[in-house]
Amino acid sequence: MTTVIDGKQVAASVIDAVKAASQTLQDETGIKTGLAVVIVGNDPASHAYVSAKSRMAKECGFTSVQHTLPEETTQEELAALVQTLNEDESLHGILVQLPLPKHLKSEPIIQSILPEKDVDGLHVVNAGKVATGDLDGGLVSCTPAGAMVFVRRTHGEDLSGLNAVVIGRSNLFGKPMAQLLLAANATVTIAHSRTKDLPAVCRGADILVAAVGRPQMVKADWVKPGATVIDVGINRIAAPERGEGKFRLVGDVAFAECAEVAEVITPVPGGVGPMTIAMLMANTVIAAYRKAG
Ligand code: GUN
Repeated sequence: MTTVIDGKQVAASVIDAVKAASQTLQDETGIKTGLAVVIVGNDPASHAYVSAKSRMAKECGFTSVQHTLPEETTQEELAALVQTLNEDESLHGILVQLPLPKHLKSEPIIQSILPEKDVDGLHVVNAGKVATGDLDGGLVSCTPAGAMVFVRRTHGEDLSGLNAVVIGRSNLFGKPMAQLLLAANATVTIAHSRTKDLPAVCRGADILVAAVGRPQMVKADWVKPGATVIDVGINRIAAPERGEGKFRLVGDVAFAECAEVAEVITPVPGGVGPMTIAMLMANTVIAAYRKAG
């Protein structure tokens, strides 16, 4: 029988632990954990994600600050806001939602966030710690950290002898995911749009992680029987059966057919998505504890 991982349930247990930790910190030191979320422009999907993050921060008992900036915000204005948030002692985490509008450069903005407040784990200092195997010293990017919770629950802490294939090489997900799998002793391949015979590469995977942004690209015959399949894609596709102009969310994996072959699989929605937010909250409370000493 295939196990379909319930990301909402796993995320809820992480959130419970975060709530307890933030309450303990507040009781023992008077410090309230604080998270600032910044969004620029009008992308509806980004607005939905950011609202969910701000809401969850409140639910965790954090001070939750949301800065909603107009599309025409300049690079200097955004940089000035990050500077202000860096200097605000009541804030332990800063997240600038990506992608930014096209006229803004995201990299200098991300790198201007203090590494100890970079709860997205995107600053080179945090990315570098993951790359060098220092997983406890910095802040680990939330989506790969969440995906690793599923991997560990399925395979344990030590992935020795297992082949892992990550499809996608982004800084936000693919690279840190591969490094986390490697740190856990998996044999890791990073595949991407230029990989030759991608289905054959994927068929070698005991753990297959898809993060390509192409709806339902991974087919059943790409999956090794008994594999663990983690779907990181969130794609909106037309769903005329729900009415004219309606959409539904699907992952990068053709779920129904791959579930026939895999032993463990994550759904979309309700798989990795809820874990990203939970790990963001976990990073924020970790940052608050570190600041408190
Ligand atoms: N856009 C999509 N996912 C993320 C994320 O994890 N962090 C940020 N900052 N932007 C995103």
